[in-house]
Amino acid sequence: MAPNNVTECICHDREFIEIKQYANQNNVTSLDELQDQDYCSNSCGLCAPYVEIVLETGQTEFVPGEPFRKKR
Ligand code: FES
Repeated sequence: MAPNNVTECICHDREFIEIKQYANQNNVTSLDELQDQDYCSNSCGLCAPYVEIVLETGQTEFVPGEPFRKKR
């Protein structure tokens, strides 16, 4: 893992891989659900674009800014 890669929701201290597992185990399919459950992504919100991709693709490690460079 590159040292500067983005791998977690810092505010909730949750790794993206942990968020992916939680979503899979609890049939969570949207960022809104994770935020409503106060699980991640509802404080500063900076991780939200990354978590959307975690849910969509299962990717759990990102180059900083990667979601903003991908064609959506
Ligand atoms: S890093 Fe996830 S809400 Fe702040």
